[in-house]
Amino acid sequence: MRTSRKILILLLLHFTLGKEESRQLPKNLAFATATSSYQIEGAWNEDGKGESIWDDYVHNHSDKIIDGSTGDIACDSYHKTEVDVDLIKNIGFQRYRFSISWSRILPGGFSNAINEEGVKYYNGLIDKLIANGITPIVTLYHWDLPQTLQKLGGWTNSLIADWFENYARVVFDHFGDRVKLWITLNQPRQICFGYSSKYLAPGVESSGLGEYMCARNVLLAHARVFHLYKNSYQSTQGGRIGITIKYPWKEPATSSVTDVEASERDRQFEFGIYAHPIYTKGGDFPHVVKESVAARSKAEGFHKSRLPSFSDDEIKYIRGSADFLGLNYYTTFYTKDRIPSPIGEPSSEKDTNVVNHQDPNWPTGSLHDFKSVPWGFRKVLNYVKKNYGDPEVLITENGFPDVEEINDVGSVSYYNDHLNTLLDAIEVDGVNVTMYTTWSLMDNFEWTAGYTARFGLHHVDFENPDLKRTPKASARYFKELMKTKTLWK
Ligand code: NOJ
Repeated sequence: MRTSRKILILLLLHFTLGKEESRQLPKNLAFATATSSYQIEGAWNEDGKGESIWDDYVHNHSDKIIDGSTGDIACDSYHKTEVDVDLIKNIGFQRYRFSISWSRILPGGFSNAINEEGVKYYNGLIDKLIANGITPIVTLYHWDLPQTLQKLGGWTNSLIADWFENYARVVFDHFGDRVKLWITLNQPRQICFGYSSKYLAPGVESSGLGEYMCARNVLLAHARVFHLYKNSYQSTQGGRIGITIKYPWKEPATSSVTDVEASERDRQFEFGIYAHPIYTKGGDFPHVVKESVAARSKAEGFHKSRLPSFSDDEIKYIRGSADFLGLNYYTTFYTKDRIPSPIGEPSSEKDTNVVNHQDPNWPTGSLHDFKSVPWGFRKVLNYVKKNYGDPEVLITENGFPDVEEINDVGSVSYYNDHLNTLLDAIEVDGVNVTMYTTWSLMDNFEWTAGYTARFGLHHVDFENPDLKRTPKASARYFKELMKTKTLWK
């Protein structure tokens, strides 16, 4: 590196972060960046792609998207494979996590009429990554369900396990020779929110029933695909497969027993509801979740709990169905107990009987509740180690929506602080983390926030038809980090 550039970067780190000491990155910690199909691809109806629930949602509920935008074009990544892979290569990341659009591969969702153009697109992406020394990590489902399947109930129909297995088979058959790291589902809780509130696709309001029907089906569908891979593909393809769950830390707002219990309850609704069935010896939904939903359902006049149960065989089938845990961490909340909220509009958020808040002094970006709280990251990692059998953890997302569009020094601080925390957790607490992934490779369609929140390491000029990508300060920070393997304290 030219001396002048080195001095510039040192000055940037010194003045923005006040950092002077450094530490080495662990040798076995892989670095990645990530995106998802709907958020970047565009080409929503091109080359035979079928409609997804996000296509339908943005076209019919534009009032729900802050800026009224859509992902119809997004970053146009469907036409920019070369450009995007070069961005990853230029930073020097070893891995790239992206998702496959189910309806680009199987436009009808379930029928085996495979869209060859879709297969061609992902083949091109995977080949280009590998040719550039970048390992592909594929998420099978990052929220864009084929609309045909939604018309049949989507994730609330228990046949979704068959549909998901059928799709996964097609994906493993076509790409499994080159893809060795699989994530079945991204953030199941947010997938299921779409069945209790109108704020995420498909936007089905269901008096708190749909969300839990979805939770049960999501876990069974995940396990089905895990077993499919293990039984029919692993011996020939030799890869690994897990799930990604988001875990915002919940810290008791006070040391009172009720707040301590409330924060633990909230952790179980937030994370345990999906992690407990897979990663604990006993399996099944967490006890406190079962108890709380049953009590509230009774108070609402339901004859049975809104949370469906698993049979003993299903508990066994789901238990242990992951080679690793994919973890998305962004932020932390303080949690307080509260008296049960009034009956009406039930959802898992109401069933918890907690209130969450954040310290207004924590650094904030363009989404007010994505504040930077590195110590919460360490707590999450230790909690997982202690309560879920010390699994191998892959950080599949971590990032910050800086208000600065190009000179995103807030993101640089966020990343540097979270990486230091991660290294403390690895070196001091002994957590087993083998991958760290930045969200995201580039600015993209941030769901209901549209294009108003920019998480990218690269700026995307959405005003301009060429959708030019420009490296931000955070891209330069990672490029330097990948070269020197040295982190500023
Ligand atoms: C979670 C999701 O996986 C991703 O799609 C989203 O853009 C980021 N976190 C930021 O909200």
